[in-house]
Amino acid sequence: MLDHAQLSVQPLDAAVGAQVTGVDLSEPPDAETAAAITEALGVHGILVFPDQHLTPEQQVTFSRIFGPVEINHNAARYGLGGSPELYVISNVTVDGKPVGSARAGEEWHSDMCYARNPALATMLYAREVPVLHGLTLGDTGFANTAAAFDALPEEMKTFLRGKRAVFDFQGRKRPVKPSAEAIAQYPPVDHPIVRRHPRTGRESLYVNHDDCTGIVGMDDHAARNLINALSEHVVRPEFVYRHQWRVDQLVVWDNCTVQHKAILDYDQPQRRLLWRTTIRGPVPV
Ligand code: SIN
Repeated sequence: MLDHAQLSVQPLDAAVGAQVTGVDLSEPPDAETAAAITEALGVHGILVFPDQHLTPEQQVTFSRIFGPVEINHNAARYGLGGSPELYVISNVTVDGKPVGSARAGEEWHSDMCYARNPALATMLYAREVPVLHGLTLGDTGFANTAAAFDALPEEMKTFLRGKRAVFDFQGRKRPVKPSAEAIAQYPPVDHPIVRRHPRTGRESLYVNHDDCTGIVGMDDHAARNLINALSEHVVRPEFVYRHQWRVDQLVVWDNCTVQHKAILDYDQPQRRLLWRTTIRGPVPV
């Protein structure tokens, strides 16, 4: 069991996030440590755990401290070791076949925003990180959606509260066509554009270019203008943190407080391989 007293949470010198040390995540955390970590995630939006040594099962066990682990629609194709709860993000191929989803999340988004219960949190554990002549590639960008909301003019905040955006699973261009089953599982849903964080109560902007196809009660043109303006606002440089991966680093993010985007600036022979788990969240309010 982990000892809560050893846990250290240091905010990053960045728009969002904190580094967490003093924990060995290969052991299930005790209740107090698990509570401290989930609290830290709500407050900081992203937690970076360096130098972790995990098996897929240990990652799934740790993921469960945040809630039930989702079965992602990519898991059938890229699940690891027969586990439908963990799937591989990678550009590596074996015998010409991809071992993982090579182009996951290349535009700004919040995971599973197209679902009635979007992902509370997502966890990536870096197994291989691409390096070209000493330059680390394959970063992930994170945008602080709570800070983006805070920075809006009061007039816009008032206008947005109570408005709902339509999120459509088929809105986003995907590198691999989703199965008919996945399409049937995720009919369009609407969620509040101003989301209240389930733990901290903090308001954040929940909208992005690709997944949002409309705003309830607004004509298409006006809705698209607003979606585009807000999506651009969220990813202004002052709200963005660019995370550079290290092997054995585990990062968990809160999909209410941040949006993210994979930066595809690498290719073979540079290899990138991460294990992903996704934690189911509540219906946004
Ligand atoms: C994702 O959006 O799930 C992947 C992010 C990344 O590979 O950096």
